[in-house]
Amino acid sequence: MTRYLVTSALPYANGPIHFGHIAGAYLPADLYVRWLKMTGEEVLYVCGTDEYGVAITLQADQEGEEYRDYVDRWHQEIKSTFDQFRIEFDAWSGTARCPHHVSASQKFFTTLLKKGFVQEKTTSQWYSEDLERFLPDRYLEGTCPECAHPEARGDECPKCGMWIDASQLVNPVCTIDSSKPVLRESLHWYLDLPALKENGLAAWYEGEDAERPHRPWKPNVAGHVEAMLKDIKERPITRDLPWGVPVPKDIESAEGKVLYVWFDAPVGYISATMEWAESKGEPDAWKTWWQSPDSRLVHFIGKDNIAFHAVVFPSMLLGQGNAWDGEPFVLPWAVPANEFYNLQGKKFSTSSGWHLDSKAFFDSYSADAARFHLVMTLPETADSEFSWEGFQSTNNSLLADKLGNFASRVLKFASKTFNNKVPHSSGVLDTHPLLATADEAFEEIGIRIREFEFRAAGQALMRGCDALNTFFDEQAPWKLAKGDTEDLVLCGEVVERCIAYLELLSRRMSPFCPDAAEALRKMLGEAIGNSDSKWGPESKAQSPAQVIPGATLGEPGILFAKIEDGALQEEISRLEGAVPCE
Ligand code: MF3
Ligand code: ZN
Repeated sequence: MTRYLVTSALPYANGPIHFGHIAGAYLPADLYVRWLKMTGEEVLYVCGTDEYGVAITLQADQEGEEYRDYVDRWHQEIKSTFDQFRIEFDAWSGTARCPHHVSASQKFFTTLLKKGFVQEKTTSQWYSEDLERFLPDRYLEGTCPECAHPEARGDECPKCGMWIDASQLVNPVCTIDSSKPVLRESLHWYLDLPALKENGLAAWYEGEDAERPHRPWKPNVAGHVEAMLKDIKERPITRDLPWGVPVPKDIESAEGKVLYVWFDAPVGYISATMEWAESKGEPDAWKTWWQSPDSRLVHFIGKDNIAFHAVVFPSMLLGQGNAWDGEPFVLPWAVPANEFYNLQGKKFSTSSGWHLDSKAFFDSYSADAARFHLVMTLPETADSEFSWEGFQSTNNSLLADKLGNFASRVLKFASKTFNNKVPHSSGVLDTHPLLATADEAFEEIGIRIREFEFRAAGQALMRGCDALNTFFDEQAPWKLAKGDTEDLVLCGEVVERCIAYLELLSRRMSPFCPDAAEALRKMLGEAIGNSDSKWGPESKAQSPAQVIPGATLGEPGILFAKIEDGALQEEISRLEGAVPCE
């Protein structure tokens, strides 16, 4: 058994989570976690909100709200969106609320300082004379010093993906008030990435660290990281701000300085794990996850976070050496970064109305339908998008017509023909080639999920349903039911197999559509005995569980309601009333 420590990027507590975020970093992780848990792996899924940083201070100021109240509000709001999508974390916290976060982040900093991987320097930072403050990197726009892209941000270039040193940005303007900032001197601490690269990062990245292996990098990750490693620079990891993790007081000139939000945020994964461990009454349990060599650390992120998860955070972890009770930290085993997810051809934008309001969405549609459609369109290798037409078609032609329809025709038929009881079986159909095809397809689901190929996993689920529908059609039990005794026996054999495969299907579909999976198990009633036990490690077994002959089935029902064309038109018109960003 392997231990999987799974994280999803900590969302900023300054705005709603939309479908684009869900598709990028949360749904694939939730699916992966549900699958691994079902197959008996030890898994911990960690997330929380990213609550510091200058962006949050500016937005809270604008809305006249205290920083803490502001992040509290978004923390709750974001959690309720995750709940609507049935995204379930084991550990959920926030960087400004976790009782371990300040001390853990400060220890990360102090250790790097002691080991010589952090150095103090006085440098120039962009300052707005109008706003009377140093400007956040994210609120600067100018020309990229690396690739000359004219719309680079102060922290990162959307074109070449480089983590930019903001003071090197060419002709910057402040995006808050379009003013031209000036450079002012300030003392800050710099993370010595070139030294960390030489002291283990490059070797680990190249796969030469035998203690800390990783999966082959996805091409989008390798591209970013290799560009960054080639010309890696020291980066400031402190800021002049009233909101953040303070630079430890015992350090000279620390007054008024806080850790850069991108320094403390990933430590949030660790501090949230510490909080989780403490709440279980085993305060040291976090170490099992973060420090034992058989832990596989998996970071689910969007492509804009690659540099931080594949270079900066691993450097911070490496640089801790043995400072934490003598044990080194694990480094990422996989960084399954996704590309961007758009809405009908344009970027999601909450402010312009070009988005899907989750509350309204879930008044009309199910989490299962949303999840499955997102899975089938995930931006795994290239940008992709949500369209209402696509959503309708996934729901109607895949979930309702293939999966839901198989369940309802089998269960209705069993109810009518066999008095809602499981018919007896002699096993004659157990090796039927169409059932073998279904077995293969269902087996592929797990293989694909473990490879982070979630779309292919969804397709395999549908292939399994296709085989089962064909089996039912070819056997035509409704004809057998009208035949002689022999036909009637065969009819029972067909229905028995179909019920057994519904049991298997309920497990295979559950990471994708957890609610419908549970509903299906209810419909199987006593046929599946003590249904709880079927969700555990034994779900690994590929063949369907034995259903209990003679047992009474539950109430057959509809697993996936169809979406009518009229409803769809309404959604599209609503969206077209909004003005998308180009
Ligand atoms: N808040 C960042 C974003 O939304 C992600 C932070 S991930 C972490 O882009 F590693 F820093 F936690
Ligand atoms: Zn660039």
